[in-house]
Amino acid sequence: MTTPLFSPTAPVGIFDSGVGGLSVLRHIRAQLPHEHLLYFADSGFAPYGGKPESVVAERVLAVGSFLVEQGVKAVVVACNTATVAAIARLRERFPELIIVGVEPGLKPAAAATRSGTVGVIATERTLAGAKFLQLRDQVSAATGARFLLQPCPGLVDQIELGELDSDVTDALLARFVVPLLDAGADTLVLGCTHYPLVQASIEKVIARSTERAVTLVDTGDAVARHLARLLAAAGLANTVAGPARLDGYTSASSTALSAAFASLLGIDPPVHEVAASPSGTMLIGPNN
Ligand code: DGL
Repeated sequence: MTTPLFSPTAPVGIFDSGVGGLSVLRHIRAQLPHEHLLYFADSGFAPYGGKPESVVAERVLAVGSFLVEQGVKAVVVACNTATVAAIARLRERFPELIIVGVEPGLKPAAAATRSGTVGVIATERTLAGAKFLQLRDQVSAATGARFLLQPCPGLVDQIELGELDSDVTDALLARFVVPLLDAGADTLVLGCTHYPLVQASIEKVIARSTERAVTLVDTGDAVARHLARLLAAAGLANTVAGPARLDGYTSASSTALSAAFASLLGIDPPVHEVAASPSGTMLIGPNN
């Protein structure tokens, strides 16, 4: 008999370039309440969206290795940019690990649209990625849906600052979203995990510019369901009832991540600062 590589009571690691992955974490906590979770915000290196693919891939491998060192049984790449740029390399590096990624929800959007025109807002890096463009071409060919791609430079920075409904954020959203509505989009894919955190502001912009109903597509819920299915299939679901642990890790200030946990999820987990050495190795700070 071979010894299983992982224990069902091991934690699940979830990471993003910053606080965006909290929009995925909230679905994972709701659907998998017994799972111990580690959340890594790579805010010291955010945003990923305007960086070259090789730089994003380097961060993904460094954060992935850090989570593996913490003993995780699965990793959720709660970042579209990181998934498109480097999930294949992460899977190559850790073939034994359950790895779940996040991609813009083009299929559900194609199923939802009535006008046949779908707006996709995401980072520049995601929209330029070969993996994303392949998905766009496949879904387009299969459904006839037309996808209008809109990068949103500056939006992630605003969200990282906690400016979810400031005038600057509102103006950026209007600049990115209104042209998509004017071009006939009745469905909008939130193709970056940061964007569901400004859903209320997006809805306000939409309400100001059209009377049409516009469907917003966010895949956080589907990602949590997919993770649940994979853990169950591998015999790795944690069925031990009891309070699940959540620990936050960040490559920037713990104050910012603690504030995001409090304002976005109403929780106050321990948050540890992690320094990245020049070689990319992660070191947990002495006080954590
Ligand atoms: N939240 C990320 C995504 O889903 C990345 C944002 C960024 O760092 O630019 O794409």
